[in-house]
Amino acid sequence: MSLRLGVNIDHVATLRQARYREMPDAPQVEPSPLEAALEAEAAGAHGITAHLRADRRHIVDADIQRLRAEIATPLNLEMGCTEEMIGIALRVRPASACLVPEHRQEVTTEGGLAVASQKGTLGPCIERLQAAGTRVSLFIDPDLEQVRAAAELGAAMIELHTGAFANAFGAERTAEIARLVEAAQLGQQLGLQVNAGHGLTCRNLPELFAVPHLQELNIGHSIVSRAVFVGLRAAVAEMLAVMVHYPHVSHPGNRH
Ligand code: PXP
Repeated sequence: MSLRLGVNIDHVATLRQARYREMPDAPQVEPSPLEAALEAEAAGAHGITAHLRADRRHIVDADIQRLRAEIATPLNLEMGCTEEMIGIALRVRPASACLVPEHRQEVTTEGGLAVASQKGTLGPCIERLQAAGTRVSLFIDPDLEQVRAAAELGAAMIELHTGAFANAFGAERTAEIARLVEAAQLGQQLGLQVNAGHGLTCRNLPELFAVPHLQELNIGHSIVSRAVFVGLRAAVAEMLAVMVHYPHVSHPGNRH
């Protein structure tokens, strides 16, 4: 199976909120995250990712409902592990939910989940979501302890945080790639579906391709940035054109 692309459309909502936060129902509100999702799908995206944050700073509840009703590809809901978000996910029933740490002050998700030290909170959350048919992914740093903890909790997937890789150069980047390779190998051995995301671009993907067993990439910032100049459909197509060169055959995780 080829490497799949989930397009993160949060930044389309960020742009909308910059102007219309106080008047969400005005007829002139733009741009529409749903329209962005449909454009991404038209370009060949395999899924749509949206992060409903506790403070609703970009994506809002109505966006999630519209996306769930209108898109053709699977919806991946990024969310913090809170009772409020679990309730929403159980009502909306997205195909998958990616659990992320959420800190109010951060501009975007900064680090991976500390799974190993939060098993008591994460375990029941994973169980409830997966019992309702939503496959759970844990957004973690490429750290073997976290990969093991994700498998122990029964999550179907992990999403390896590639932010450190994206921000490192030279020897540091080489070291980050080695961490990602080891984490992906262990994830695969433990039966987890291995995904990756954060800070990925058309330029850094070829280096990421040293990492085996990847099945899905979630990419937002770079695609939306490029879309300002060439349009979203073309920006998604450019990313997909790079992704077809992923050299490893990816097999789905063998659990769930
Ligand atoms: N995956 C997760 C879990 C994220 O939190 C984010 C950022 O919202 C992304 C992927 C996409 O990252 P970027 O916008 O840097 O492509």
